[in-house]
Amino acid sequence: MRADWTSFIAEDARALTASEIRDLLKVAERPEVISFAGGVPDATLFPLSEFRAVYAELMADEAAGRSALQYSISEGLPDLRSWIADDMAGDGAKRSIDNILITNGAQQGLDLLARLLLSPGTQLIVEKPSYLGAMQAFACRSPAYVGVGMDAEGPLLAEMEAAFQGGARLAYLQPDFQNPTGLRYSLQRRRDVLALAQRYGALLIEDAAYCKLSYDGAALPSLLALDGEGADSADAGTVIQLGTFSKTLVPAMRIGWLTAPRPLIDRMVLMMQASNLHVSTVNQAVALRAAKKAFPGHLGTVRRVYRAKRDAMVSALTDFMPGNVTFTRPEGGMYVWLTLPEGFDARALLEQALEAEKVAFVPGQAFFCDKSGTNTCRLSFSAGSPERIRDGIERLANLIRRVHNQVGEAA
Ligand SMILES: Cc1ncc(COP(=O)(O)O)c(C=O)c1O
Repeated sequence: MRADWTSFIAEDARALTASEIRDLLKVAERPEVISFAGGVPDATLFPLSEFRAVYAELMADEAAGRSALQYSISEGLPDLRSWIADDMAGDGAKRSIDNILITNGAQQGLDLLARLLLSPGTQLIVEKPSYLGAMQAFACRSPAYVGVGMDAEGPLLAEMEAAFQGGARLAYLQPDFQNPTGLRYSLQRRRDVLALAQRYGALLIEDAAYCKLSYDGAALPSLLALDGEGADSADAGTVIQLGTFSKTLVPAMRIGWLTAPRPLIDRMVLMMQASNLHVSTVNQAVALRAAKKAFPGHLGTVRRVYRAKRDAMVSALTDFMPGNVTFTRPEGGMYVWLTLPEGFDARALLEQALEAEKVAFVPGQAFFCDKSGTNTCRLSFSAGSPERIRDGIERLANLIRRVHNQVGEAA
């Protein structure tokens, strides 16, 4: 008798489903397509010469080289955690290295938190829209999402309070240059969200993946930093923060981190031991040396290059899009969020855009926990040159105009 393989798959693993637009977006990887779909960093920005020097230096040092190639502790290299703690202190959040866990990218942090904090049916507040990858990480625990709408300043407080009143005690939030909208919370909204969470004894998971990619205006304190203002101890508190080198240095090292009260860190260390033992020792050692060598100069370059791309996208949208299409003007990050007129189907538009204009984007519906937002799109400006971005937006705008006219004629 032949085994029915699928019958062996456990319920948690069944909850994971492939995105239906993945196959469509494979076409976006062809060179003739101008793709605003991926959220990947611009590889021309990777500091290759620093990495070359760092690897050479590390392997030339007998003791450091050998220990970089050895197993290491699950918490992560103390020197790397120390560098991260110093960097966070510079941003106003004082935490000990014992509050920091190195993870395999921020994505592993999301997976650990899902397994640590969620059970089937746990109410989880997410922004509408929210980061798709986080919802994929949470999916294995089948939480009950409570979607909270957003305005230009952040999550709607009345909806957040209603969620807390309804029993939710956990929220996943991105205050800085959110993936997918590019929005950042105002200072007042940060304070208000935190105060609400504190009032209800809730925990906030702050995803700070994009917080360093700011192009305009002064940096705003993170929820973690604001939480610290009132917290008596780093082992209490309301905020768990996720960070990563993926957007500032390189994604391939897979170096992320998580800051949390110690009782939670202790549990997650055990979970790391059971799953991958630790994040690659050599990658941690190299990332630390590269960050020490390259920052803050490299960050300055990254911001300058992405600012120019953001400007190219926003000015092309302003010049070419019909008046009934609205879009965000992000002050940082990698994304612009487009809202098409009511009734537009962004998924159908993507098929036409690939076919007729060789342009790709991500239809926004996938980012909504309630699968609303059918007339929205995420456009990433990180990968292409400003000229290609302008060209792609003009093509997309022309298509939207044509489709709009057809809809008008048919009505
Ligand atoms: C909001 C957000 N969080 C986390 C991640 C995961 O990042 P990492 O490469 O550190 O796993 C991403 C990646 O795109 C992201 O956009």
